[in-house]
Amino acid sequence: MLSIKDYNFKDKKVLVRCDFNVPMEDNKIMDDFRIQKILPTIKYLKNAGAKIILLSHLGRPDNKNQKFGLKPIISKLEEFLKQPIKFSNETVGGKAKKETEKLKTGEILLLENLRFYKGEEENDEKFAKSLAELGEAYVNDAFAVCHRNHASIVALPRLLPHFAGLQLEKEVESLLRISKTPKKPLTVIIGGAEIESEIKAIEKFLEFSDHILFGGRVANILLRVKGICIGKPWPKNEVCELIKKMDLTANKIHLPVDVLASPDKSGQVYIRESGAGSVRKEEEALDIGKETIAMFSEIIKNSQTIFWSGGLGYFENEKFSHGTIEIAKVIAQKNDCFKVAGGGDTVRVLRECNVLDKFSFVSTGGTAMLSFLAGEKLPGLEALD
Ligand code: 3PG
Repeated sequence: MLSIKDYNFKDKKVLVRCDFNVPMEDNKIMDDFRIQKILPTIKYLKNAGAKIILLSHLGRPDNKNQKFGLKPIISKLEEFLKQPIKFSNETVGGKAKKETEKLKTGEILLLENLRFYKGEEENDEKFAKSLAELGEAYVNDAFAVCHRNHASIVALPRLLPHFAGLQLEKEVESLLRISKTPKKPLTVIIGGAEIESEIKAIEKFLEFSDHILFGGRVANILLRVKGICIGKPWPKNEVCELIKKMDLTANKIHLPVDVLASPDKSGQVYIRESGAGSVRKEEEALDIGKETIAMFSEIIKNSQTIFWSGGLGYFENEKFSHGTIEIAKVIAQKNDCFKVAGGGDTVRVLRECNVLDKFSFVSTGGTAMLSFLAGEKLPGLEALD
């Protein structure tokens, strides 16, 4: 992969693929982590004298539903970059082209949601060509979408001189330090609610990590499939089959030994401390218990490399956030090791635990990060190679 530092962008129109797929509520950005992470690349290109054209998707729109429009991103970018951001509500075609031609050196133009056009998700050559006509070079700084075979990720870079953005380079470098060259012992912490998208990565972690600590709903599902408890939830049959194929007897797997169990997520009916194996049919384990926190902390303290993805309990309710916060504190206090986090709601969890800056690297990726760690080839990275 060529870096943006390997090219002279002076007066060139550069298409920068960003990932502005950020959580929104009523047109309000709920977390701007991904926007912040693209800033170094934009600033670098501006200093190098480029004319900058930003491309992104947001959500999974069926048509040009304005709920998924990129306009709300403008004010955030203006706040961070302290300069006006131009906007084109057409992503390709005559009007977009005119806007790009008007750009002066150092100016920035944001184009409307790529997924408003069917060609994007179909990796359509024609759509990629109409994008390529807008610029003279291409930069991908959207690691989180590199697992998608989409036009702006795969077909477009083949049509222009193409480069990896600064964040994308760091993503690859940091994740390789986890999966290929970790200082041992390597401890992987997996929580969160979803196991489907994590199975392949977990299988890989079983090969290269020294310890895997499970919490959250993921742990509940494993405890249930292993027959240790009968609490909720029970995964779909196909997920169950995949889990059964995993070697869950390996010594490196650490499941909770005690939990906080409750029949409802609000915790209003009752909350009780329970052995992990004694969670009742009508209950769900919603946080890890004291013994588990102690056991996990000990392993973390002796690690040289740590990878963390997902809260260890139902973090949305503070009655069940204690375990996650305690583990976050233990990791935060460890200075002598390489610490990476990412995926799902991890950024929000780290932010709320006030430990975001205590990690060596925090990935912007969700599925892309897990696929990379699972050893899969990401189409977006292949296209840059
Ligand atoms: C993400 O949020 O993981 C990326 O932006 C990709 O989004 P997608 O799953 O809708 O393709």
